[in-house]
Amino acid sequence: MKKYRIQNAPVLPEIQRGFSLLEASAKLRMFYVTFLSSSLSVLDLIAVGLLGLSASIAVRGVQERDTGDRGRFVTDFLGVSSMTLEKQVLILSTLAIALFLFKTFLTAWLSKRIIFFIQREAAKTTNSLLAELFRSSYEFIKEKSIQERIFATTVGVHGLIVGVVGALFLIFADLVLLLVLIVGLIYLDPVSGSVITFLFIFIAFLLNRVFHERATQLGHNLSVETVRSNEAISELLLTVKERRIRGSEKSFLDDVYKKRLLMSGLQAEMKFIPMVSKYVFEIGLVVITVAVTILQFYFSESSRAVANLVVFLAASGRIAPAILRIQQGILGIKNNLGGSSLTQELIQELGRSKTSVFEETTSGLGTPVKDQYFSPSIKIENLTFRYSENSTFSIKDISADFPPGSFTALVGPSGGGKSTLIDLCLGFYKPSQGSISISEQDPNFFIRMWPGKVGFVPQETLIVKNTLRENILLGMKDELTDKEWGLLIESCGLGSLVQQLPNGLDTNVGEFGNQLSGGQKQRIGIARAMVLRPQVIFLDEATSALDAETENLVSKLIYGTKDERRMNNRTVIAIAHRISSIRHADKIMFIDNGQVLGEGSYDELLAKQPSFTHQAQLMGLK
Ligand SMILES: Nc1ncnc2c1ncn2[C@@H]1O[C@H](COP(=O)(O)OP(=O)(O)OP(=O)(O)O)[C@@H](O)[C@H]1O
Ligand SMILES: [Mg+2]
Repeated sequence: MKKYRIQNAPVLPEIQRGFSLLEASAKLRMFYVTFLSSSLSVLDLIAVGLLGLSASIAVRGVQERDTGDRGRFVTDFLGVSSMTLEKQVLILSTLAIALFLFKTFLTAWLSKRIIFFIQREAAKTTNSLLAELFRSSYEFIKEKSIQERIFATTVGVHGLIVGVVGALFLIFADLVLLLVLIVGLIYLDPVSGSVITFLFIFIAFLLNRVFHERATQLGHNLSVETVRSNEAISELLLTVKERRIRGSEKSFLDDVYKKRLLMSGLQAEMKFIPMVSKYVFEIGLVVITVAVTILQFYFSESSRAVANLVVFLAASGRIAPAILRIQQGILGIKNNLGGSSLTQELIQELGRSKTSVFEETTSGLGTPVKDQYFSPSIKIENLTFRYSENSTFSIKDISADFPPGSFTALVGPSGGGKSTLIDLCLGFYKPSQGSISISEQDPNFFIRMWPGKVGFVPQETLIVKNTLRENILLGMKDELTDKEWGLLIESCGLGSLVQQLPNGLDTNVGEFGNQLSGGQKQRIGIARAMVLRPQVIFLDEATSALDAETENLVSKLIYGTKDERRMNNRTVIAIAHRISSIRHADKIMFIDNGQVLGEGSYDELLAKQPSFTHQAQLMGLK
């Protein structure tokens, strides 16, 4: 059996965590509706009493006996005392049925409102958790798998809000109903009232004892297995090419099958436990009814016995299901507490996690003021960085200046620290020491202040499941004219692609852009950055998959000539392995082992940096 992390944690803090996700107004509204629905229980009690009374009157009709003071009080109150007994029975029973119906419809309507409301709250919570996750530190976002994040922010949230908080509200209404019925029943018939109450509660208690820990455990295990199995399936689909040619999908499928089998067992058990409760209650109801009938006729006179029996049947017909609902509700809550453990973990970690650099440097910024003066200059001072306490330094004391209009190339062996340096400039990580500024501001501050002024083309462009146009805009508003689109498409080397596509720019390019070539994806990545007309551009191997001609075309767009860059006030920093592509850079920085080992123009670097010369030689450039 697998080991899972769940321990017997106290339940209350977890429930509090769920409640804390609701806004104050939402909580108030829920309490209000719940209170209303609970108060309706009184109607139930009155109806039960009326049924008992009408039974008692019916028996009186047969046996010529009195119904007692309580009965007369009610008949007097309703003004039916002087009517014939048949009429009294008819009126009382009709009234009881009307009350039952009224109460049931109203409760159903209120429950519907609660259920719809709580579902909306779950959607809201998913949204706010995602927003918080998005704003948290980049390391934190990357810490867990995408599948786990998806589960924690959707299914887990649903479990916590609907399955725990919502269920609690619904249970509360049932609890009040139960209490009212029990009190009423004990008042009418103390002995059998207490006996059946005790017995039903005892059954519920016993069932909970047997199942409660298992329910939490099952919920937790199932959520963990769901995430693992989803991860496995998405990995299988993402590595389909490599797996197929080595024929390794069999072991993978077996693995997924094992996980699914384990899940099926957990799911079956989760479905079966509530059924056990139902069976136990059904048996309990029959046994208790028989026992009470015998007791009644043995100890009471027959008219009272019949009246009490009717009250008992009416009440237990409502008490037993209410207790069953409560018991299964508690079971469900326990189950959902376990099932939402990943969400609770996320909430706790978000609360604990160090505030992201983004939050830290942009909080209190208010609404960013656009078009405020800025200069596309970047300054790096004594920058040192390591990814974690335990890792070695990826950047060691780098200082550099990138004036407006400059084009700097970062070159050097793989693993040297080039991408790390760019990520730091983009504000994804916080320097361990030293500083970076864009336009004399913290990078995150700059990005919030002038969204879109910074462009970035990553090493790999992830294509989203949407049209080519949306892939380029990536969530920005389309403010381009057709002419501007045409210009962008041509200068990014996407002209022939757009012509080929059946609906041009508005053709869906499929999940992960599976209808596109590597170079086409890369050009979309470039268009994605350029559509914003950035004035600071970072490129990480952005042209590595392009043929020489296309690279030349795209370079014109991104780098331009020195004069064009100055005129456009555009600063470019580009990582490149192909030295040919950055030959015309103003400055080349050779980075290895987290340090700048040499910098200067292409020719200067050739003269002083042997590793660079070696690379250039290998490429036949020297
Ligand atoms: N998220 C991370 N956590 C820990 N270490 C990392 C992380 N990302 C990169 N590193 C390490 O930091 C160092 C620099 O990596 P970086 O990606 O900056 O290299 P690079 O110069 O861009 O290499 P390449 O040319 O292959 O892209 C490497 O030793 C790498 O192992
Ligand atoms: Mg890199």
